[in-house]
Amino acid sequence: MEKEKTMVEKKEQETPKATLLKDYKKPDYLIDTVDLTFDLDEETTRVHSSMNIKSNHDNDGTVKPLFLDGEDLELASIKIDGRALKAEEYKVEDSGLTILNPPENFNLEIETDIHPKDNTELSGLYMSGGAFVTHNEPQGFRRITYFQDRPDVMAKYSTAIIAEKDKFPALLSNGNPVEEKDMEDGRHYSKWEDPFPKPSYLFAMVAGDLGHIKDKFKTASGRDVDLKIYCEHGKEDKCHYAMDSLKRSMKWDEEKFGREYDLDLFNVVAVPDFNAGAMENKGLNIFNDKAVLADKNSANDADHAYVERVVAHEYFHNWTGDRVTCANWFNLSLKEGLTVYRDQEFSSDMRSRPVRRIDDVTTLRAAQFPEDAGPLAHSVLPESYISIRNFYTSTVYKKGGEVIRMQEKLLGKDTFRKGMDLYFDTHDGKAVTIDDFVKSMEDVSGKDLKQFKRWYSQAGTPEVTAKGKYDPKTKTYELKLSQKCAKTPGQPNKEPFVVPLEMGLLDSKGNDMSLQLEGESKGKGSKMLELNQAEQTFKFTNVEEPPVLSINRSFTAPVNMNVKYSNKEYAHLMAHDSDLFNRWESGQQYATKELLGMVKDIQEGKSPKASKEFVEAFGSCLKDENLDKAFVAKAMALPTESYLAQQMKIVDVDAIHEARDVMRVAIAEQFKDDFLKTNKNNQIEEDYSPNAEQSGQRALKNMALSYLAKSSDKEASNLVVKQYYSAENMTDCEMALSTIVNSDKLERQQVLDDFYDKYKEDSLVVDKWLTVQATSTQEGALDNVKKLLKHEAFSDKNPNKVRALIGAFASNPTHFHAKDGSGYEFLADQIIKLDDINAQTASKQVSPLGKWRDFDAERQEMMKAQLKRIIDKPNVSSTTYEMAYKCLGEDDKKDKVKEIRHNKAKARISSIRKRKQTDAMINVAKQKSSVSR
Ligand code: TRP
Ligand code: ZN
Repeated sequence: MEKEKTMVEKKEQETPKATLLKDYKKPDYLIDTVDLTFDLDEETTRVHSSMNIKSNHDNDGTVKPLFLDGEDLELASIKIDGRALKAEEYKVEDSGLTILNPPENFNLEIETDIHPKDNTELSGLYMSGGAFVTHNEPQGFRRITYFQDRPDVMAKYSTAIIAEKDKFPALLSNGNPVEEKDMEDGRHYSKWEDPFPKPSYLFAMVAGDLGHIKDKFKTASGRDVDLKIYCEHGKEDKCHYAMDSLKRSMKWDEEKFGREYDLDLFNVVAVPDFNAGAMENKGLNIFNDKAVLADKNSANDADHAYVERVVAHEYFHNWTGDRVTCANWFNLSLKEGLTVYRDQEFSSDMRSRPVRRIDDVTTLRAAQFPEDAGPLAHSVLPESYISIRNFYTSTVYKKGGEVIRMQEKLLGKDTFRKGMDLYFDTHDGKAVTIDDFVKSMEDVSGKDLKQFKRWYSQAGTPEVTAKGKYDPKTKTYELKLSQKCAKTPGQPNKEPFVVPLEMGLLDSKGNDMSLQLEGESKGKGSKMLELNQAEQTFKFTNVEEPPVLSINRSFTAPVNMNVKYSNKEYAHLMAHDSDLFNRWESGQQYATKELLGMVKDIQEGKSPKASKEFVEAFGSCLKDENLDKAFVAKAMALPTESYLAQQMKIVDVDAIHEARDVMRVAIAEQFKDDFLKTNKNNQIEEDYSPNAEQSGQRALKNMALSYLAKSSDKEASNLVVKQYYSAENMTDCEMALSTIVNSDKLERQQVLDDFYDKYKEDSLVVDKWLTVQATSTQEGALDNVKKLLKHEAFSDKNPNKVRALIGAFASNPTHFHAKDGSGYEFLADQIIKLDDINAQTASKQVSPLGKWRDFDAERQEMMKAQLKRIIDKPNVSSTTYEMAYKCLGEDDKKDKVKEIRHNKAKARISSIRKRKQTDAMINVAKQKSSVSR
């Protein structure tokens, strides 16, 4: 009780402080070696650390106190060169320990006590599935022992582990095992040494009773590497796909980047409780088991692709992250953006490149574009943070990956590869910055990338407008490009970006014309334009007929393109563009235009109608036998509700849902026979494989099935129920489940119960069952979610469960945004509760409330009120505080203007929506009666 009280007081006094990039200084001390001994016990583990430390003469030469970070530690002893320190020689505070007058060069021994079983933050040393596990990125090592817990302090580590042998037979750490022995009283000892200097965030240790599978890999230079994947007993058979992915990743990095693995063994451990997807600790990757375990009965095709990608991502970090690491956390994208780029390239080579590009752009638009357009916008290289844990964002990862890709496009693949080689050669074993990376690219290319670097320093998604003008007399085509970027928090004015735009001009037959810029000779049918001014005109000559512009092919630049196309031009691009990405893209843009028109009709009280012209164009790819099946499945999917919502000034979740539904029914009716045929012809007889070909075929047949489920033809519509009961793999089963649950079919509850019954022992499959219900469009979804919080299947200590239920509910457009605010209140309740358990997981759930600016005045008030509740929570963590505070924003000054705008719109909408209103009122009444408690 005493202790808790002082904690509360402490937090209330401190307003969380920001750390600024401009204040970055090199460390005052360097740590050459760290020898750790863990005496493992679930209640209290004693950690002994012996470090060789020297002052860092890079700095100004005066003797400085040595500050070591520490968090939730109990100091048991402290010695310098074997001599116990007197009380006046050091100072212990909540945030760390200061040695007031250290010598130049010395050995420091520290013993700390920590409590793994109580560590629900899952940062530092904690228990998962009965095993001891560490997770230290970004600042978890300070929860194990006192240390300069920053990535620019690189040391050589050894780790000795002592634990009860029968409970914890497997003892693992980074590097190579060097000693093993049994001790008295049933305990055993294992010592590991990592020859590579590393920052503390890459330290890892695992002790547990685990199963494993093993394999071998021979490197290009002929060294043998032992590969092992550890998991909970009984799940070994689900590790084979991860192992296969690992071996393909190792080979690919040798072939594409000339990077070999550098230790004699590579261990992967899968655990059920994990804050992120996985972690690239040197030689001992630790994974969320969701990113490892997969077989045909428990994981769908997308889950398999996810495992492949994450395994590759973590493996690739061995070079981009571990061998060359970041000087500070502002430069997090140095390793994350680059490694995302590498994993995207890997799976593009393993699978279909255009399909992977479509997926990556879809996620970029679903998560990163809204982030960049909202209160949490920050640059890829942020300049300040309160809690760095909040900066593992899609901007740092995904936009960071796009910025690497643009450099590859601007330099060309070969020069880019030379730049990578130079980067590795120059910085191996060092902690460096994004500037250092770009410098390598400049050095090999002779290109000045100063202006390009604005992609790292300026937040926001640029909007590029393209206007073409054809002159039949001179046979010239003038393409006027202009760019602008909206202001973001702290950045009112933006300078022009360097925007690489690959483009082509289609003739009336749909072929690429060969392109000739004025003053240049005739070239190929696709060309990279470099837009680097606010406005620029490109003049093409010898253009024989009016062309249709295809621009930002394969999404060379992460921008919003603004091009006015007629419906005919959209259809022309959809049918003929040589760039598959843009064939998909023009379909999506055409669909968006149509659907937003229908939304407007609904708001004006008209009944929405799908245009026949659009439906015809959209479905035409169904008949093209030459197209990649996975591509057709993507091309036939309408933009998501949340994508459509992003395109509206004031989001109307119900109208969006209705418009999309009407369109789906129209497509289903129009192409019923094609869907039946497609579904039938793409059944797969062979054994299940998650490879690109089979998963593409399954995607296509399931796409057809999901449209058929909308059909008025009962027999066609019931095929999905049949599929649920006859499914032989999780892809088919889960697709049927979610389609049925979101339909008005009588089998809804029956299949939900059946699914749980079948899979209740498999935690990852149960997560799917939770998500299907949390995202259900059915009435009463929130009540059901509340019930599920108390279900045996749920635990608020497991981040996967939290994401599967609470996180998924916040992405349920209709129910999260219920008019009475019950969805908002629910989310805030959960965040407030979670903040005491796991602040990282809690803060990740805040951002849906930060979208308040996109909604009507009433919803705005309700969302803001919930953000305020979170901020006002006594003892709120600085991590959650930062998110809620930033989401609320300081827009209050402009509130007046906004209020007027919103009120106007609101009046317009409400006066014409009589029909909908009655419905809504019934809903509100229903929800209210269930909310009262
Ligand atoms: N570095 C990990 C990866 O991208 C992810 C990660 C580690 C992470 N620690 C984290 C993500 C903490 C969020 C929060 O491979
Ligand atoms: Zn990463």
